[in-house]
Amino acid sequence: LKQVNIQKSTNTRDLNKYTKDQLIIDAGQKHFGATMCKSCGMIYTASSPEDELQHMQHHHRFLEGIKYAGWKKERVVAEFWDGKIVLVLPHDPSYAIRKVEDVQELVDNELGFQQVVPRYPNKTKTFLFISDEKKVVGCLIAEPIKQAFRVLSEPTGPESLSSRECHRAWQCSNVPEPAVCGISRIWVFRLKRRKRIARRLVDTLRNCFMFGSFLSTNEIAFSDPTLDGKLFATKYCNTPNFLVYNFNS
Ligand code: ACO
Ligand code: ZN
Repeated sequence: LKQVNIQKSTNTRDLNKYTKDQLIIDAGQKHFGATMCKSCGMIYTASSPEDELQHMQHHHRFLEGIKYAGWKKERVVAEFWDGKIVLVLPHDPSYAIRKVEDVQELVDNELGFQQVVPRYPNKTKTFLFISDEKKVVGCLIAEPIKQAFRVLSEPTGPESLSSRECHRAWQCSNVPEPAVCGISRIWVFRLKRRKRIARRLVDTLRNCFMFGSFLSTNEIAFSDPTLDGKLFATKYCNTPNFLVYNFNS
């Protein structure tokens, strides 16, 4: 198996910040001053000037990044009451490619990815979920793959997955299985989560990735999933033993 060298740092400043503040909010201790911006979704301490500055910087860059003006030629592959899914292919006009790059940068930033070289840059398919407010609120980047590995069930117990700390603690089989489509990234805007946007992106991917066939969940794999990714994939594939690829062992 050829592995792409993905450098995922789980301790980037932003990620830490989100996680730390999330824990404060989860504990219900709102008097600590953690605030969530209702437009960009960033959690920060309003009473800290340093935090406020960081928020302002993130706020503008983020909202600019997810703004979707609408394109003359857009490939709408699914429509819903609350938005639509647009497919972007490698040879699309530069305005479309640029938007995908901008969104990917925001996503990678949030995921703590640094500089990932796509394996099949000219075979990548990107699905953008565009909300009725003309914002890119979901993104799925897919690539062809040949094989993947099954996540092994973890021992169940009160401690399992009790903390975000162990969110990389999953193991997978070393027996490769044939697969067709890799989900390199899946991301939904923080304020739009749990509205089945990710689910609809993957449904659409399965429908559009290969002409004339609907991919089964045994033909798609998730690249080195985060905790959110794992929870989603387990639910979506209806098994904790879904397929993964591109992990650092
Ligand atoms: N916790 C528990 N269950 C979850 C979660 C979660 N955080 N997210 C999804 N699920 C399950 C639920 O059962 C959900 O159905 P329900 O809401 O009816 O209970 C089901 O999956 C479908 O969820 P969606 O609403 O379709 O998922 P959503 O649109 O919220 O997006 C995603 C999920 C993409 C993982 C989002 O949480 C996200 O962007 N997280 C941050 C980025 C990230 O970690 N992405 C995955 C990286 S791994 C990779 O890219 C291959
Ligand atoms: Zn904001």
